[in-house]
Amino acid sequence: MTSPSAPTTSAAQTLARLLVGNQLQQAVHVAARLGLADQLRDGPRMSAELAKVVGAHPDALHRLLRALAGHGIVAADDEQRFSLTPLGELLRSDDPRSVLPFALWSGGVSYQAFGALEHSVRTGEPAFEHLFGQEFFGYLAEHPESGAVFDEMMSRHTAPVAGAIAGHDLAGVEVVVDVGGGHGELLAAILHARPGVRGVLVEQPRVLDEARRVFARAGVADRCEAVAGDIHRPLPPGDVYVLKSVLHGLSDEEAAEVLANCRRTLRPGGRLLVVEFVLPPDNAPSPGLLMDLLMLVGCHGRERTAADFADLFRTAGLRLAGITSTKHGYSLIEGREPERC
Ligand SMILES: C[S@@+](CC[C@H](N)C(=O)[O-])C[C@H]1O[C@@H](n2cnc3c(N)ncnc32)[C@H](O)[C@@H]1O
Repeated sequence: MTSPSAPTTSAAQTLARLLVGNQLQQAVHVAARLGLADQLRDGPRMSAELAKVVGAHPDALHRLLRALAGHGIVAADDEQRFSLTPLGELLRSDDPRSVLPFALWSGGVSYQAFGALEHSVRTGEPAFEHLFGQEFFGYLAEHPESGAVFDEMMSRHTAPVAGAIAGHDLAGVEVVVDVGGGHGELLAAILHARPGVRGVLVEQPRVLDEARRVFARAGVADRCEAVAGDIHRPLPPGDVYVLKSVLHGLSDEEAAEVLANCRRTLRPGGRLLVVEFVLPPDNAPSPGLLMDLLMLVGCHGRERTAADFADLFRTAGLRLAGITSTKHGYSLIEGREPERC
């Protein structure tokens, strides 16, 4: 007889499935690194043939493909030829819905840092700095290959959200400044939707060339500048400061300091639009909870609740004017100057 509190087999199986998540993540990551999905674009192929093209060991590649087939990413036919499933199609570089950049990023430097999560949990310090000896964005600047993968991953991640945010009411706004705006998808979408509005992207030098290409493709290059700058230094004046996925990479002190920095050059009647996950106050499941661990491991940042954002704005001399959620999991958190009595 089992005791009422003993875990059932299925609970143990569920936990075991979670525990091999790292193996599956690496299998998908290596498939992405080898460019297997692009090689399978035109139809089924034998693993030996693929091994020659991608420079892999034939038997080892066969075993990788077999494992991926077991998880629905490729399919094997009776002749042991492998083809893409609908999931596998998403690893093609030419698919507009491609998650290839995410597969490349999450299984690389990010995976290594997460392997040292215990260091962060024991010390409260970023495992990334412990492992790589420098802070996250400094590392990306010095390792252009990793920087490019990270930036492309962020870009792909932000593009679907951009439409929802670009629809926000910006009546009367002349200048939007995107602070740490990456490749500028969000700013491009805002400007594209509003022909009279001008934009400035303030970013680190490594992303600026690609951002200019994004603005040109969106047809907004004549109204949008991409400037090298520091979010901690004086910013160009604006009616709206957009900060997407920037504050979560910063400690409370740094985040409040960046908000106060935006406030200094905010034009009268202007506002800050912070785009982040908002953690539910009751620890209910949220995509922000694992992201919070990533921030713990990667930098000095954290995900925040609505009350945390209200505190940050208050510390920066602003007020939380409202929070609007989007279907993508992100919320639009609006900050304004305090109301005068
Ligand atoms: C997580 S990414 C978010 C990018 C973009 N906002 C998005 O959501 O797609 C954070 C961005 O902030 C930029 N950043 C970090 N520290 C910065 C600094 N001190 N000055 C300017 N940009 C900075 C990084 O280069 C990076 O592109």
